[in-house]
Amino acid sequence: MDGKFISFEGPDGAGKTSVIQQIQQQLEDQLGTEKVMYTREPGGNKISEQIRQVLFDGQNTDMDGRTEALLFAAARRQHIVSEIIPGLKAGRVILCDRFVDSSIAYQGAGRGLGEKEIWQINQFAIDGLMPSLTIYLDIESEIGLRRIAEHRSNQINRLDKEKLAFHQTVRQSYLKLYKNYPERIKLIDASQPLEKVIEDVKATIHDRFSDLF
Ligand code: TMP
Repeated sequence: MDGKFISFEGPDGAGKTSVIQQIQQQLEDQLGTEKVMYTREPGGNKISEQIRQVLFDGQNTDMDGRTEALLFAAARRQHIVSEIIPGLKAGRVILCDRFVDSSIAYQGAGRGLGEKEIWQINQFAIDGLMPSLTIYLDIESEIGLRRIAEHRSNQINRLDKEKLAFHQTVRQSYLKLYKNYPERIKLIDASQPLEKVIEDVKATIHDRFSDLF
């Protein structure tokens, strides 16, 4: 497959959405819109967006942790088959807002279901497909949560509402992943001003794919 698969990860409030939007815009200016694809998890296609609605429905307060993990993995599977593989075959640069690391950090560590166990169920879902590069936007939990409260209080979802300790556990899990997979995962300090974060992300993408940026 000719395309390039790049995922973006980070705790809530790391500024992931703003970063990806700018990266997408700049890549589209360089390569043309048809060569760049933005997609997000859970979601990215009709079936996975339907699963997303179930996952984030504020009324589903009694959702079991394993149910949640399996739904994320199911949404991921459909996303891979309907969007990511066709995009890669078409030679696109895929900018994927969250992928399997999110499940390991949020369900595996945050929900305490076990990072190894979550990795196992996701191996069935991804069937060997992993991003070539993962940009991890790192932010201290207190700062991340403050940003959410300040900027998007009207959009807080069920998982954002988890307490500070949950977010700290999620971040520690991301940092562990970063330590364990230094070839794939690159850490960017997301507490910097947005322009500097973008600069660092572009340099990191260029290091991995010399024909980009
Ligand atoms: P976002 O669209 O703002 O990134 O929010 C997605 C939320 O879903 C975020 O709180 C992280 C959570 N999530 C998981 O818990 N597990 C997953 O596998 C994915 C993809 C997201």
